[in-house]
Amino acid sequence: MQTIRDIDTLRKAVVELKKDGAGIALVPTMGALHAGHLALVAAAKAEADHVIVSIFVNPAQFGPNEDLGRYPRQEAEDAAMLEAEGCAILWAPDAKTVYPEGFASKVSVAGVSSGMDGDARPGHFDGVATVVAKLFNQVQPDVAVFGEKDYQQLAVIRRMTRDLDLPVRIIGVPTQRDADGLALSSRNAYLSEEERAAARALPRVLGEAAAAIQEGADASEALGAARAKLEQAGFNPVDYVEMRDAETLETVSALSRPARILAAARIGTTRLIDNLAVMPVR
Ligand code: PAF
Repeated sequence: MQTIRDIDTLRKAVVELKKDGAGIALVPTMGALHAGHLALVAAAKAEADHVIVSIFVNPAQFGPNEDLGRYPRQEAEDAAMLEAEGCAILWAPDAKTVYPEGFASKVSVAGVSSGMDGDARPGHFDGVATVVAKLFNQVQPDVAVFGEKDYQQLAVIRRMTRDLDLPVRIIGVPTQRDADGLALSSRNAYLSEEERAAARALPRVLGEAAAAIQEGADASEALGAARAKLEQAGFNPVDYVEMRDAETLETVSALSRPARILAAARIGTTRLIDNLAVMPVR
């Protein structure tokens, strides 16, 4: 596996990989890789001849009071994992390569970017859409793979790809979880033992709300109860617990089409997000 940090070398390496019509899958990440990322790499391997993984902790998607400074960075360990998975290229540019002096452009996706994390983290999805558009232009993949754990992000990227006619097929991979149900996330590394134990309430409470709604409970009551249970478990604040259309992310109050319950809440200094499918019972 080659680790590449400049765009010229990347372009030449991609041309070489694409020789003879081989397909390329990109897995964009911010590093601190775990089994959730490796599931994305496995999905990428199933879709293309060569896998390129990018590691870039993107400053543009962090707000001024967020965790950019303390976001875990472990490139050597990450590179060893990717090498063992048979990835072709680790694309690891620095901030000056991605955002050179005078950089003044932004990709902004209306609609799906608003509400939930769009409200809680102003500018976050502009930062994500901008860097993902750049990664697509840099790597020129046929396929790109993202986790469903960041469900709103996945919707933003799908919308952007369609709207801008980007020739990239987007694949979403189901959330990978620990044995106790907690979604794998690089940010779980911030949790103390006590917080980690309390954090298990997040998938459990969402599961209970999803089951209640599927069994016919009033959605707004079930979501309100979920919020109260999260607060009781020690989450503070609970940014949102919402049910949205699984495809459009429009707010839904009753279950007539596949939906998703999405939540974000802070435990100690760590903000966790999660989401689960809610299916109408036929
Ligand atoms: O999901 C992430 O790790 C990031 O938001 C992404 C897609 C790599 C963009 O920086």
